[in-house]
Amino acid sequence: MPSKAVKPLAAVLPGLCFALEYCTAPFGVPHGTEMSEIEVLIVYYSVRGSTAILAREVAHGVESTPGVQARIRTVPRISAHSEQIDDAIPASGPPYATYQDLRECAALALGSPTRFGNMAAPVKYFIDGTAQLWLDGAMVGKPAGVFTAASSPHGGHESTLLSMQIPLLHHGMLICGVPYTQPALNTTPGGGSPYGPSHWSGAGHERSLDRDEAAICRSLGQRLAHLAVRLA
Ligand SMILES: Cc1cc2nc3c(=O)[nH]c(=O)nc-3n(C[C@H](O)[C@H](O)[C@H](O)COP(=O)(O)O)c2cc1C
Repeated sequence: MPSKAVKPLAAVLPGLCFALEYCTAPFGVPHGTEMSEIEVLIVYYSVRGSTAILAREVAHGVESTPGVQARIRTVPRISAHSEQIDDAIPASGPPYATYQDLRECAALALGSPTRFGNMAAPVKYFIDGTAQLWLDGAMVGKPAGVFTAASSPHGGHESTLLSMQIPLLHHGMLICGVPYTQPALNTTPGGGSPYGPSHWSGAGHERSLDRDEAAICRSLGQRLAHLAVRLA
């Protein structure tokens, strides 16, 4: 009999696999790689890592669809004077998103931490640079979804998600949420809504992504991939 203090391996294995998946999750296609497959672009900003974890779960959902690849990109921090303050290539994590990434993608998932019930400034700054794409109609008809992480359970998940959808609607994108046929929407003790996946990270970032939050992320990725295939 194992002692009460030591859990049997079978009890800890599922959690271990779940954690390992995060550590080994890919960043999608390397920058500049030629791809013949349909690509869903995932652009996010993250300071403490929660939104980055959501992005990887969305990518798992995208890549569960045969023939569809996730291209994961981030955006740099901005300074008070709004010039770019980071190096051109991030020290770690995925490359920075370019406007060419937006032109090339078949669908888009956009992620941001919640900041005062809205998206973070670096994400808005990136979007505000898309005027030429808007003039060209480059994003019209492409599916898009949004995701967020917030430290409190009712601190603006839904307002952030809804406000992130507004510029995407201006671009003529087809907004994709998560339907209640995803059972986790009814059971989630943390984040997740029909407006998109979200994660309640906790005041000290003590909450890991739970299974319902992860399932809702994967649903969004899967839906975006299916829509991209059907519209290709
Ligand atoms: C300036 C600022 C504003 C924030 N506003 C909110 C908020 O309105 N509601 C909330 O629940 N959390 C808020 N947070 C907490 C972040 O949303 C939370 O820590 C999130 O998990 C960060 O995501 P990240 O780990 O991807 O950086 C705020 C954090 C900062 C720095």
